[in-house]
Parts: sequence; C-alpha cells; structure tokens
Amino acid sequence: MTGRGTDPRTIRSSAHDRCARALVTLALACLCAQGRADPASDAARGRLLAEGGRCPECHGAQGEGGTGSDASASAPRLAGQRFDYLLKEFRDFRDGRRHSDAMDIIARDDDDEVLDILRYYAGAARRAAADPPPAAQGVRRLFEEGDAGRAIRACADCHGAGAEGSAGRRSPVPRLAGQVPAYLERQLRDWRGGARRNSAEDVMNREAAQLTDAEIDDLARYLSNL
Ligand code: HEC
Ligand code: HEC
Repeated sequence: MTGRGTDPRTIRSSAHDRCARALVTLALACLCAQGRADPASDAARGRLLAEGGRCPECHGAQGEGGTGSDASASAPRLAGQRFDYLLKEFRDFRDGRRHSDAMDIIARDDDDEVLDILRYYAGAARRAAADPPPAAQGVRRLFEEGDAGRAIRACADCHGAGAEGSAGRRSPVPRLAGQVPAYLERQLRDWRGGARRNSAEDVMNREAAQLTDAEIDDLARYLSNL
C-alpha cells in the first residue's frame, strides 16, 4: 500500500507544479528586468497578466469578444483594437464618462498593469476575415458616402476605408472591422438614444441620431464581417 505522501506520482506532480510556478515567476521577473521602455516585453507581461486576470471571463480567452447577445455576453473584441482608443475607454469608465455595470467596477483597478494588458490586446492577432455574406443593399454606400440629405457623414471619413480606425484629429477613432455584431448594434443604439456620450464634441451622437433600426442592424452586420 502506498500512502498519499509517498506515492511517487504525487511527488512528481507536485514537484512539477512547483517548477511551473517558478517558471512563471521567473518569466515575469525577466520581463520586468528588461525595463519598461521595451513595448514588446510590456506586451508579453501584459499577456501573462491578462490571462491570469478577469478580462477573459467576458472578452474571451484571446480578447476575441463575447458571442452572446445580451450586454454582458457581448463584450467587445479587444484584440487588434487601437491602444490609444482602448486606454481612453478604460479611463472613461474609470472617470464616469462612460458606463457599463461590468466595466465601472473593473476600471477602478487602473495601474501600470492595465497599460501592459491593453498593449497586449492591441497587438494581439485579429480574426482572419471569413468569406463575408453579401452586404445588405445600401449599407456599403452609407458607410462609404454617408447620406447628405440626413446630414449623416460617411463613416469611412473618420473610421477609415476599411474601418480600421485612426489616431483621429481630436481623439482616437476605433477600429470597427471584425467587431462583435451585437456589441456594435448596442453602441449605435446607445449613441442614438444618448446612453453613451463620450465622443469628442458628441460626434457619434450626431452621426447616429438619424439612423433607422434597420440601418443599425445592417451596419453592425456589415462592419463585423469586414
Ligand atoms: C464581467 C464582464 C467583463 C470583464 C471581467 C471585463 N470586461 Fe471589459 N467590457 C465588458 C463589457 C460588457 C463592455 C462593453 C460595455 C458597453 O456595452 O458599453 C466592455 C468594454 C471594455 C472596453 C471598451 C472597448 C471598446 O471597444 O470600446 C475596454 C477597453 C475593456 N472592456 C477592457 C477590459 C479589461 C482590460 C478587462 C480586464 C482587466 C476587462 N475589460 C474585463 C465586460 C467585461
Ligand atoms: C467625424 C468622425 C466620425 C464619423 C463620421 C463617424 N464616427 Fe464613429 N466614432 C468616431 C469617434 C471619434 C469614436 C470614438 C468615440 C469615443 O471616444 O468613445 C467613434 C466610435 C464609434 C463606435 C463605437 C466603437 C466601440 O468600440 O465602442 C461605433 C460603433 C461607431 N463609431 C460607428 C460609426 C458608424 C456606423 C458611422 C457612420 C454612420 C460612424 N461611426 C461615423 C468618429 C466618427
């Protein structure tokens, strides 16, 4: 009979656990020792912090976003989003300029670790575009040209021809391509109804004011497939 403490398999596996823990600690120590000036090492550290923290619960294992349809299950994709935009939003939640039940609490923990986590997500791979279904009629024109009759500017003017986002003139403009569709839809409704008001000079509230429900649905589907 083998007692618990003397079973060689138990000894091997706990030695293995200790070894694995030591390696993570060592990896973090090495990354820290490389100094904060190296963005690659900050992102590598950010990855370890992100994977060991709460973000994946809602934003997916690699920051790919949620797949459900209600607010908590359709958290946005963070992977491949612009760093300057992610940071602005995180601080907007922290400072009460933007609201979400989940993020209002999470964003209280703003520190250097968050900068590394966001840097990691910004540099993480984007989903390769699958074969997109044909776009609904008119939605592409709305995106590329806007609708002068209703004072809707072309989304592409600010978000870029491929909805890739840009540094913007006053504040960062997010990437929309490949974003979670239920999330895009909710944001457009929130801009239209005024529940979200944190864009420079309310530009997005004005943009969304004249959009119909059907246009919002079509835009969300179109952009998520870009
Ligand atoms: C309990 C769920 C939950 C957790 C945990 C969570 N988030 Fe979120 N996050 C959300 C939801 C939901 C939204 C979208 C809120 C809305 O609809 O306006 C969001 C939005 C964001 C945004 C804005 C993105 C954009 O495109 O505007 C950032 C940045 C963000 N989260 C970062 C993080 C980071 C970093 C962590 C981990 C430290 C984290 N979140 C943890 C649910 C969560
Ligand atoms: C004049 C510039 C401008 C135009 C035109 C514009 N946007 Fe935006 N948009 C922005 C900026 C800036 C933000 C970031 C707001 C912030 O700081 O939170 C934004 C944010 C968004 C978001 C939120 C994304 C996220 O991750 O939360 C969506 C969705 C969006 N825009 C869709 C559109 C659509 C669809 C159109 C066209 C109908 C459009 N935008 C036209 C500047 C613009």
